[in-house]
Amino acid sequence: MSGRIPQSFINDLLERVDILEVVDARVKLKRTGKNYVGLCPFHNEKTGSFSVSPDKQFYYCFSCKASGTVLTFLMEYEGLDFVTAVESLASIAGVAVPREAGKAPHADKGEQNLYQVMERAALYYQQMLKNHEEAVNAVDYLKNRGLTGLSARDFGMGFAPSGWSGLSSALKDVGEADLVSAGLAVKSEKGRVYDRFRNRIMFPIRDLRGRVVAFGGRVLADEQPKYMNSPETPIFHKSRELYGLYEARRAVRRLDSLLLVEGYMDVIALAQHGVPNAVATLGTATSEEHLTKLYRYASEVVCCFDGDKPGRDAAWKTLELALPVLSEGRQLKFMFLPEGDDPDSLAHKEGKDHFQHRVAEAMPCIEYMFRRLTEQLDLDLIDDRARLGERAIPYIKLVPEGLLRQLMMNRLSMLTLLPQDALYASAGIATQTNRQSSSHESGPDMRADNRYEANNPTDASQKTRPSRISKYLLGILLKHPEYLGALDDEVRTYLLNGLPEDSLFRTVVHLLDSHPDLDTATLLAALSGERYHALLVELAQAPAVLDEKGLKADFLAGAEKLRKGADNARRKLLIQEIKKGGSADHLAAFWALKQGKMARDADEGPQGRKGETEQAEGE
Ligand code: CTP
Ligand code: MN
Repeated sequence: MSGRIPQSFINDLLERVDILEVVDARVKLKRTGKNYVGLCPFHNEKTGSFSVSPDKQFYYCFSCKASGTVLTFLMEYEGLDFVTAVESLASIAGVAVPREAGKAPHADKGEQNLYQVMERAALYYQQMLKNHEEAVNAVDYLKNRGLTGLSARDFGMGFAPSGWSGLSSALKDVGEADLVSAGLAVKSEKGRVYDRFRNRIMFPIRDLRGRVVAFGGRVLADEQPKYMNSPETPIFHKSRELYGLYEARRAVRRLDSLLLVEGYMDVIALAQHGVPNAVATLGTATSEEHLTKLYRYASEVVCCFDGDKPGRDAAWKTLELALPVLSEGRQLKFMFLPEGDDPDSLAHKEGKDHFQHRVAEAMPCIEYMFRRLTEQLDLDLIDDRARLGERAIPYIKLVPEGLLRQLMMNRLSMLTLLPQDALYASAGIATQTNRQSSSHESGPDMRADNRYEANNPTDASQKTRPSRISKYLLGILLKHPEYLGALDDEVRTYLLNGLPEDSLFRTVVHLLDSHPDLDTATLLAALSGERYHALLVELAQAPAVLDEKGLKADFLAGAEKLRKGADNARRKLLIQEIKKGGSADHLAAFWALKQGKMARDADEGPQGRKGETEQAEGE
């Protein structure tokens, strides 16, 4: 079955197969009006940004912007190539795929064959690592580098013996031409065919479906070239593949964050030491394509670089090409390792917790960008502030419209002391004011989530995570900082002094109390050093479930409730103390509380009192 699939047939298929049926079988959807929404399968999220329109036969993710027809959905979701996706659609429709005469655009059968050859080669190399007499050195080498047999197995590592035809003989039935087109054998000018990989430790490179598409082979000593990789083949495109992505997805059910490192050995060593979410490019610089691919599976990418000059330069290049893909909800961070170390050495030396601590300390891209742009500038000087403006604006313009860009503008405004309007004007981009309203329904996610602290289990200095209710209130306050001013004095005083000292909510309240005019974006910018900044951003961005009036009422009532809860807890404590024979101070404090409560009850009238009694007993 070769030959091109007629376009008319594909159009026909798209009309016959209902996108809703196909998506619904794979993603949990819920109806909202004309459309259906659910959690986007193409990025990691907690709110349902993914929407399917049966009318338009189209899907769209408001957050990661993935979009397309039922055909693209199958390709992306199942990881199918075009032809296979068409075949899959055809089988749903119960029809056969017709072919036009002529050469196929995708040599699908050929590709299938290549995958099989690669799989067999991988098995062969694995067996050689176990059994071949020459493999003793390779095993020693890996052991010396601290790698366990389990890691070798998880990553399917193998060994290519030193002969010229070990693989070719083992795969005799495959045929030289196929071995050459799989990149496993090389044809010399004289026409002799010999094994490409000899006397090397073999790293299979797997695509997202776990199919081996290429190999990297490392020498055992300090010879050059250290690595030899498969050439480009119909199934392998070096600049698109990411080493370890399949393994990371397999190891972590829901990836929140992916760590981008440099080498095969880094990925494996990290996984062995309990950091299973590292991936590496294959010796090429990071490309936009790499990043887009990574963001499909995690909302945060942390790029890990050497601390030396080449490392720093590579980091900046990565930032430059990443800015245009940093749409809403995607986060990028940078971490720099001490000179002379790489993730591989650090994983063995320091272990998981230390390394995760480094990851948790990674610099958010805004931070990194401004740090780098202000290097060698003295922001006390007006000229240097102007220079910063000139330098920063072209980068900020690369960022898609959204909160991140606003935050950058705010930061720039703070650093340059130039008004934001002026900066927006000179950048030639429109100011964004109210981005809160959002068309799709789904409230802020109140489930407890570990996303923001998972990286850093050991650090004791981190802020207390907000409780459910304070998280809800915080979410509202971040959207409407002006509501703090609307609180009655007592509740406001409670929020300022009564919340736990180290709580995120308190930090925000204090900041707003001293700077009542901050808007959402500036507020977030001012808080960008906070441990839970990502959480703050997410809370601020989460679509509001209520209209403004409702939100405000909720905020005022919720804050009051928080305070009452705290009062009750304190009253109970005081009663306990008094029962134990507490001091006069205890009594005085108790009466003060009691009086405050009575005064409030009187203000609220009978209904209020009833409400509170229930609440007080219920606590
Ligand atoms: N690389 C390559 N060809 C080379 C050198 C490097 O393709 N001659 C690629 C490999 O993908 C390698 C990555 O660049 O994994 C990073 O290189 P390096 O840090 O030197 O390799 P490591 O994987 O760290 O290997 P090792 O620690 O064994 O030196
Ligand atoms: Mn290394």
